[in-house]
Amino acid sequence: MTVLAIDAGTTGVTALIVDENGAVLARGYQEFAQHYPESGWVEHVPEEIWQATLSACQTALDGTEAQPTCIGITNQRETAVLWSRKRGGAPRRAIVWQDRRTAGICAELRDAGHEERVTQVTGLRLDPYFTATKLTWMSRNDKRAWSGVESGDTVAGTVDSYIISRMTAGARHVTDASNASRTLLYDINEGRWSEEMCELFGVPVSALPEVVPSYGTVGETDPEEFLGLRLPVAGIAGDQQAAMFGQNCYTPGSSKCTYGTGSFVLVNTGESPVAPEHGLLSTVLWQHPDGRLEYALEGSIFVTGAAVQWLRDGLGLIDTAAQTEGLAASVRDSGGVVFVPALTGLGAPDWDPHARGAIFGITRGTGRAHIARATLEAIAFEVRDVAEAMARASGTELPELRVDGGASANNLLCQIQADQLQVSVARPEVQETTALGAAFLAGLGTGVWSSTDELTQTWNLDRRFEPGERDEGAHRRWRAAVERTKGWADI
Ligand code: G3P
Repeated sequence: MTVLAIDAGTTGVTALIVDENGAVLARGYQEFAQHYPESGWVEHVPEEIWQATLSACQTALDGTEAQPTCIGITNQRETAVLWSRKRGGAPRRAIVWQDRRTAGICAELRDAGHEERVTQVTGLRLDPYFTATKLTWMSRNDKRAWSGVESGDTVAGTVDSYIISRMTAGARHVTDASNASRTLLYDINEGRWSEEMCELFGVPVSALPEVVPSYGTVGETDPEEFLGLRLPVAGIAGDQQAAMFGQNCYTPGSSKCTYGTGSFVLVNTGESPVAPEHGLLSTVLWQHPDGRLEYALEGSIFVTGAAVQWLRDGLGLIDTAAQTEGLAASVRDSGGVVFVPALTGLGAPDWDPHARGAIFGITRGTGRAHIARATLEAIAFEVRDVAEAMARASGTELPELRVDGGASANNLLCQIQADQLQVSVARPEVQETTALGAAFLAGLGTGVWSSTDELTQTWNLDRRFEPGERDEGAHRRWRAAVERTKGWADI
């Protein structure tokens, strides 16, 4: 038996065919366009996400004789999408999680004294990152699109819901609790949409998807819409929660860091939510079919892999992301250069939507290699800052950090990470853990696997990086540089 796993990420869609041993038999990938209509704005065209999904799945299916028996879906979280309940067409572009345009709406709500209650109910904070203020913005600034929401013809949701709706020809409007918990509209304590939050942000509950468990069949694909296939959709989770599942982080205290567009460190906190402190978020990990919720503390770092991408596409400093390793290794250190990749503001633990990126400490001796090294160091420093916040919040140090995602293939980054954290960094053989987690959820939901114990057998270590000497001076310079980027967009 095999599973088709779809990871609809921020810059592209990955599809994997995964067998019972957790081995990847075939894969497909399709990028889609990023739109930046104004400074700090990031948009996606929903139809392009859907077409990329079809194309990535077709490539994966063409790569093997195996016929999948179910589908698992994982996705970039928080991104706000509107689409027609019946026909699937979108009246406007989606507003992406990285988009900062709602900083003013957040400040308005904060000034009106709502932040404490918002955090109590949702585990989150008033930041443009999350879905709700993006919907508030649409309601105020795109009356044409919003009139459909008011009349009930148009629905609202995140990328998982949109894709499932397209696959099922509009038959299912669902999301899982892990995705719902990223919207600012879901009560993580009660495990349902919060009418109070919906009212605060001006979003009709009737437009939102039904919240379903993270695994178990929730619908069937319509062959006319989805590549001639009729398959059960049996696993849904936000990408960071799916990566936790794929990394077998099933017990309290287990943690992982996924290096994607951004990097997200999560630690499993068990069956009750922990109050978020020190710039962390409290979030749903997954919901079991019997309704039980499990939770995590999360440190969300917005730009890590995207900084490497910017070296490639923005500066033309490298041709491929993989080149950063050799280039950065060609110098002993960054020569005093510090790159703060606050390209879409700062997330955890500093949280400043008005911060912008900067490179400090440039001299006449600075070259490409120093900037490449400063970029890898920045990623490691960002993760260290979040890990330290987690240690303060939980009172215990992380025992080790499991890593995955594109940049985890970079050995130099993993080593700098272990040095900066002073804990060992463990990299599994399969680093596409996000999609793997979606496959595990769907397979668990349909009997491909019978328990998480069985899934634990599929995790194999590729390499462990033990901590060496830690460069405290470099981290001190980093913190000083971070402070200097704050509020920049406001000047
Ligand atoms: O919260 C945003 C996150 O879900 C995006 O992940 O992998 O697309 O950078 P990624």
